[in-house]
Amino acid sequence: MSPITLPPDCRVGSTLLQLDSVDSTNSEIKRLAAQSAPDGLVVTARRQTAGRGRAGRTFHSPEDCGLYLSALLRPQLPPEAVAHFTAWTAVAVCDAVEATCGLRPQIKWINDLILNEKKLCGVLTELLLTDGRPDALVVGIGINVNHRPEDFPPELRESATSLAMELGQTVDLEELTRALILALNRLYADFPAQRANYLRRYRADCLTLGRLVRLTTPTDWRDAVAVDIDEEFRLLVELPDGSREAVRTGEASVRGPNGYL
Ligand code: BTN
Repeated sequence: MSPITLPPDCRVGSTLLQLDSVDSTNSEIKRLAAQSAPDGLVVTARRQTAGRGRAGRTFHSPEDCGLYLSALLRPQLPPEAVAHFTAWTAVAVCDAVEATCGLRPQIKWINDLILNEKKLCGVLTELLLTDGRPDALVVGIGINVNHRPEDFPPELRESATSLAMELGQTVDLEELTRALILALNRLYADFPAQRANYLRRYRADCLTLGRLVRLTTPTDWRDAVAVDIDEEFRLLVELPDGSREAVRTGEASVRGPNGYL
């Protein structure tokens, strides 16, 4: 990828490191943050050798197929608002994909992006602590861009897709990267004042709403219907006895009863 040029007032990407190969762009940002890296630092890589997903999963990151990007941000936020930031990021990624490719993904609560019922993108947000206090966020985004079906490992071929597979043509990775950085920069400027705006758009993009979901914890599972996203970006579910609960990210994994969705 050639060097990305950004407007001079762009806070996100004001320092931009475009690597060929790295273990994980999130891990690289963490290492640089420990050496006082600046707010707004963005790291991209053409491939990751140990890409990380949520819940300790790996994120398959073959060379020149995907967009693997992490940003170091220092918003003023209490730790419990990290979930908001993660949800806002999903909206920003939808904006960037729509601006570049003309199609808008949907969001599977809380932050997987979906096209045609298959996973297109994942977001891994990590909170950095200094002396036990929240100090910075690492927002890591992995989008399947120019993968062909054979670029995915066999176990993901049924549940994952890429922009190229959906559009029937390759996508300019550089253009998408630039659009994503600009969308993150807008998000950063909007946070937290534009909460109503991002919540409205999150609800509109969220495909989990109205669906049967399975709330899975390490010890059991319950089926419920997803009815709303509340002001804290929690998933509001209705249980078979008619009672309602608000589910926080990390409290339960939400899946359809028959698989990924
Ligand atoms: C998930 O789907 O569970 C989240 C996947 C997040 C992947 C991105 S790729 C860029 C950044 N670096 C990583 O190691 N992970 C994130």
